[in-house]
Amino acid sequence: MSTPPRRTQVGIIGAGPAGLFLAHLLHRQGIKSVILETRTREEVEGTIRAGVLEQWTVDLMQDLGLGERMRREGHFHRGITLRFAGESHHLDFEDLTGGKRVTVYPQHEVLKDLVAARLADGGELHFGVRDVGLHDLTTDRPRLTYTTRDGEPQVLHCDFIAGVDGSQGLSRQSIEGRTEYGHLYPFGWLGILVEAPPSHHELIYARHERGFALLSTRSPEIQRLYIQCGPTDDVAEYPDERIWSELHRRLETVDGWTLTEGRIFQKGVIGMRSFVCDRMQHGRLFIAGDAAHIVPPTGAKGLNLAVADAVYLSRGLDCFYRTGRQDGLDRYTETCLRRIWKAERFSWYMTTLLHTNPAESPFEHRIRLADLDYVVHSRAAATALAENYVGLPLD
Ligand code: FAD
Ligand code: DHB
Repeated sequence: MSTPPRRTQVGIIGAGPAGLFLAHLLHRQGIKSVILETRTREEVEGTIRAGVLEQWTVDLMQDLGLGERMRREGHFHRGITLRFAGESHHLDFEDLTGGKRVTVYPQHEVLKDLVAARLADGGELHFGVRDVGLHDLTTDRPRLTYTTRDGEPQVLHCDFIAGVDGSQGLSRQSIEGRTEYGHLYPFGWLGILVEAPPSHHELIYARHERGFALLSTRSPEIQRLYIQCGPTDDVAEYPDERIWSELHRRLETVDGWTLTEGRIFQKGVIGMRSFVCDRMQHGRLFIAGDAAHIVPPTGAKGLNLAVADAVYLSRGLDCFYRTGRQDGLDRYTETCLRRIWKAERFSWYMTTLLHTNPAESPFEHRIRLADLDYVVHSRAAATALAENYVGLPLD
């Protein structure tokens, strides 16, 4: 038997960073929302993904009253280290950007804080739903249908629908007239989590002839490391000894610095691609985050870009509910795309700058090294990298 239809102002499909930030922003504006999520709460809160927050994302969390644990447990770095051609160079972002920092606070910790705060506020968040369907998007009464975790069919009437269901979600398919731009890279990342204390107080990005390597962190006891691998490599091809051997060779290129080893307790391979959907709205459906765009991970933009879309969408909805005016919502795609393409450019730039590409000519290889040399010896070039890394200001 189906339960009576329910209603809300904004129906949100997906409890990732975009969906959860949107729900909090709307709540602050007095707008009601309901989140539908296919995964369980444990799965959402347990998936290891992003690590770095831009400065404005950190400020937004504080502003929304969600920053208490991040302030205590996050890692705040002045800058990053670039390592290449047997040399190590520190880029001091705090100096280059007038005080902005790199914050390492893992995505799943952000999600834990946002889920807990939403539930404490009395927010509606339904985990473990199935068969989500979008209907009547070009009317002013769009609907979501779904099956609850307990197997009950349900209808949710909405004023608007936010499709924030990630890159494999279904919302994007409902955006009519869209053009999709994509780019594949001929490499991937093997990421590991290790029980070890930090080998360095900040992140190290290394370009090496054997491929890229990245040293990051999660906590004083757990370190996150990545090495460039083939795009379709299997983790089974990477026994622990092979991973350590690659990490030592790619990172220990300067005198006196050694990498601390520990027990590897998680391994995974991620492919790398760039993707942009050039239309992010259709009728009363708005898509945001990975549902609309993907960046390769180098430079750590994905989560932050998802949150930026949520901010722009919340502004358009706020204007609509306060004044009845639709122009903010009409400009949503245009506003988002300006930031998205800049983040796409920066992520592509960091990726091509730091990875060894088998298809690259010796000429292109020299150009990358010249670019790195320029970045670490010119304040102007270093500033351009720094202001993108810590996050461009929101429009
Ligand atoms: P998602 O996080 O994908 O959330 C979408 C949610 O929708 C999911 O919970 C999914 O279960 C749910 N869903 C899907 N389909 C449905 C449906 N039909 N109905 C209901 N719910 C549905 N970004 C950074 O900024 N910094 C980093 O350091 C960084 N590092 C990364 C490292 C790795 C290894 C990876 C994989 C990614 C990294 N990213 C990073 C990218 C970042 O994780 C994503 O960009 C971010 O999660 C996007 O958020 P989102 O809310 O748009 O989508
Ligand atoms: C991490 C991921 C990134 O893509 C990056 O550029 C820096 C750090 C991380 O997972 O810690």
